[in-house]
Amino acid sequence: MQPFYVTTPIYYVNAQPHLGHAYTTIVGDCLCRFHRLLGKEAFLLTGTDEHGEKILQAAEKAGKPPSVFADEISARFAALWPQLNIEPDSFVRTTSARHEECVQWMLQRVYDRGDIYFGEYGGYYCYGCERFYTEKELEGGLCPQHLVKPEYISEKNYFFRMSRYQGWLRQHILDNPDFIRPERYRNEVLALLDSGALEDLCISRPKTRLAWGIDLPFDRDYVCYVWFDALLSYISGLGAPDGEVFKKFWPGENLVAKDILKPHAVFWPTMLKAAGLELYRHLNVHGYWLVRETKMSKSLGNVMDPLEVIGKYGVDAFRYFLMREMSFGSDANVSEEALVGRINADLANDLGNLFSRVLSMNAKYFGSSAPQARELLPEDTALIELARTAVENFIRLFSRARFSHALESLWELVRGLNKYVDATAPWALHKVGDMARLATVMAVPLAGMYRVALCLSPIMPAAAAVMFAQLGQPARRALAADALWEWVEPGVMLAASSALFPRVDPLTPAEDASAARRSSPKAADQAAVEPCACTITHEDFQKLDLRVGTIVAAERHPDADRLLCLAVDIGEEHPRSIVSGLAEAYAPEDLPGRQVVVLANLAPRKLRGKESRGMVLTAEGGKLALLTASHPVPPGGKVS
Ligand code: MSP
Repeated sequence: MQPFYVTTPIYYVNAQPHLGHAYTTIVGDCLCRFHRLLGKEAFLLTGTDEHGEKILQAAEKAGKPPSVFADEISARFAALWPQLNIEPDSFVRTTSARHEECVQWMLQRVYDRGDIYFGEYGGYYCYGCERFYTEKELEGGLCPQHLVKPEYISEKNYFFRMSRYQGWLRQHILDNPDFIRPERYRNEVLALLDSGALEDLCISRPKTRLAWGIDLPFDRDYVCYVWFDALLSYISGLGAPDGEVFKKFWPGENLVAKDILKPHAVFWPTMLKAAGLELYRHLNVHGYWLVRETKMSKSLGNVMDPLEVIGKYGVDAFRYFLMREMSFGSDANVSEEALVGRINADLANDLGNLFSRVLSMNAKYFGSSAPQARELLPEDTALIELARTAVENFIRLFSRARFSHALESLWELVRGLNKYVDATAPWALHKVGDMARLATVMAVPLAGMYRVALCLSPIMPAAAAVMFAQLGQPARRALAADALWEWVEPGVMLAASSALFPRVDPLTPAEDASAARRSSPKAADQAAVEPCACTITHEDFQKLDLRVGTIVAAERHPDADRLLCLAVDIGEEHPRSIVSGLAEAYAPEDLPGRQVVVLANLAPRKLRGKESRGMVLTAEGGKLALLTASHPVPPGGKVS
């Protein structure tokens, strides 16, 4: 089976990662997980683009040498991906020795094949885009991307004979309809190629003007143009030209947004052709995430921080939202309201509710053991047929980068399963004691839910792991469109309840959920039975600074009946002031001397006017109970 290889753009290190970067990388991760589910080997490459004028200027602005600056921002990108449950197989930095060697190899190769020459050039240079524009390409004399007046620069440079490949590229795109997809971008590139002569590409910068780059192997007075350098990360990150991984995975697919269509659709294939390397299989181009109809970008100051979003709503909901909300190729608006809307409608109402009702009914009727289906009636076979079509469509659409449509198709099954449960009314069968039919009408949705969990596993890996566990299934199983309907093995023990995606109140999002639980015993009861649908990494856990502390003083909060103001010794110079919702369970005079567990690195906040610097941990369920160590521990003792 042909292995699958996909790349994201390698991101500039002049800005912090935001939702736009997260989206493309999540798409890459979902695609790899999807192809693995289909039984293929898959490889995800991402990384950072660290050379060039733009980065140098940003480093100077930050008062740091470019290498130090690049190290810092690159590390932020690398650290973000695991938090979004993204597992890159290669993270390329264009300042790495391996990448530099590959770029020099390629430059020499194209030079030796006669496609690089030295010449004089004058053009309109946009520093933002790091490229020359022809007069024709400018809009009202301004760079069409940055809307700034470019500088006219004339100097001697090296050029890649890109013009030579114009006719060939046009023909290749015509012969391979899905080389660039969706179609609108293919048409855009064809129109560009038809609009006039393709110019040669200036691929060097004199070191006298810019030294932050990779030396040209045939002229050390010049460095390589940042785009010629950056595009090669897609093969250097596989170990090109000689590495085994390169031989195995190349050619692959590239994922980009429409901002960088031209370098990927014109520079990149002509570079590969000139070097005699195989072309990529597909260029998948998506639109922009907009905030109130404006592109999300650092320069406009309207970016959404993915960490903030996942902190409030969880990684799985975030990944699902991005994959479902954007129709790949078109622009899409993002807002917290839209995210909450999707969580409540799709995840809580449709999916969460399906798992919750079927598993709790099965617990009631069959003691949580998977029942054996008996005779199938037309309504059962209709549902099985719906599942087959929905999964087939899901696979077909997902493989073609039509993620939103793929999920829409899967939701036909989710909603179909809910309708099936409504129509077959298991509770009524139970009431009249028709256990044979009851077994079938429970077995059918359980099998359907398993297919849904399989399809969702590339998009929501953590939630899918919970779904598999609830269905008594091993985590990873292959998904084949034509596989026969599979029953959940009779007798397997299933979860008795499920709360995959609790509804989110837009006004009191998950962030405030713990506070809400503390002040509402009813909510606390519900929370006690809800398993968490997300997993955290060991690194995530290590971020928590948990310490044993001794309460040295406690008094009632002057303005809140439920709160106590504590002074807790956690081994620091002064006791910590911590406000905690303990008043219903503990009298202040009972607390001094007690040992407790404190989350010491929680951001300080004010609770009804009193500053709280940490959190005292409690256990819920019935009366609130303070957590403590089983024997006395010196204050400040680390909890791990
Ligand atoms: N370094 C170049 C790419 C070189 S690839 C060989 C670059 N970097 S970038 O940091 O500007 O990243 C651009 C990419 O980030 C887009 O193509 C897209 O993948 C992602 N996005 C950044 N903002 C985005 C939106 N507002 N919406 C969607 N994607 C966005 O260009």
